[in-house]
Amino acid sequence: MDQAQLKQRIKALAVERNALLLAHNYQRDEVQDIAEITGDSLALSMEAAKTDKAVIVFCGVHFMAESAAILAPEKIVLLPRVDAGCPMADMVTAEGLRALKAEHPDATVVTYVNSSAAVKAESDICCTSSNAVNVARSLDARKLLLVPDRNLGRYIAEQVPEKECICWEGYCPTHDRLQVAEVEKAKTDYPDALFMAHPECTPEILALADHICSTSGMYEFAKTNPAQTFIIGTEEGILWRLKKENPEKSFILPSRALICPNMKLTSLEDILACLETMEPRITVPEAVREKAKLTLDRMLTVPRD
Ligand code: 13P
Ligand code: SF4
Repeated sequence: MDQAQLKQRIKALAVERNALLLAHNYQRDEVQDIAEITGDSLALSMEAAKTDKAVIVFCGVHFMAESAAILAPEKIVLLPRVDAGCPMADMVTAEGLRALKAEHPDATVVTYVNSSAAVKAESDICCTSSNAVNVARSLDARKLLLVPDRNLGRYIAEQVPEKECICWEGYCPTHDRLQVAEVEKAKTDYPDALFMAHPECTPEILALADHICSTSGMYEFAKTNPAQTFIIGTEEGILWRLKKENPEKSFILPSRALICPNMKLTSLEDILACLETMEPRITVPEAVREKAKLTLDRMLTVPRD
């Protein structure tokens, strides 16, 4: 089958199965193209909860499909590649977090959505890269445990100096790889460009940014800012929609290393196979799901940064 035939077959089977195709902003271009909705991890999980469709095909990584299963337990959530994980989410376990909590019993645990359901269930509230600072500010607690991303954690800590912040030492291998010299070179090559960076980048990279925001924030900034050229400090999959929505603007990726291998695993063939077999299905044990849902529900009451 060529790509056009594959896409046609996927669309027909999705209708037959009453399935909604969701794709994260970092997925391959052809996967984003076939999806009914593209977006960030939380927005997609909320779409999963909202839809009337019985089946969700989540083209992303494991924790995202889990978030959909937490918010929409009555639906069948499929992850086309069960081996698509997030190394950062895997850097913290529920057991490890329990040990840190025991050392700091007076702290409130703020956990990034890039985490397993079991870790969310051990937390007080979740955050995403688009509401992390507001979530931290909304809490009465003076002491926060920020889990698992040390880069997002340090960024939050800087914005809420009135709180004591203890950061878990996890990181995103893709964002953490971006080098200061690469960004400086792009800035020299494109002196009029603005640099937008995701808070998963290191503090040294964030110090060079004109705008620090989530992937959704980047779409908004590129559309509304009059600048013509933007240097992008996040995974390259974001370029597909940035270029589509802003055909007259230029987007520069400062490093070839900004590719998340896990996000790139899902192919059209995998999507078709998963619709044919209705596997792999992602479920969360009910006791964990209920606790994890509370942390997401608390977060949803806080507005975006
Ligand atoms: P979003 O929360 O913007 O979807 O980001 C998820 C992610 O994996 C970032 O690296
Ligand atoms: Fe995880 Fe980083 Fe890949 Fe996002 S880009 S899924 S944080 S490894």
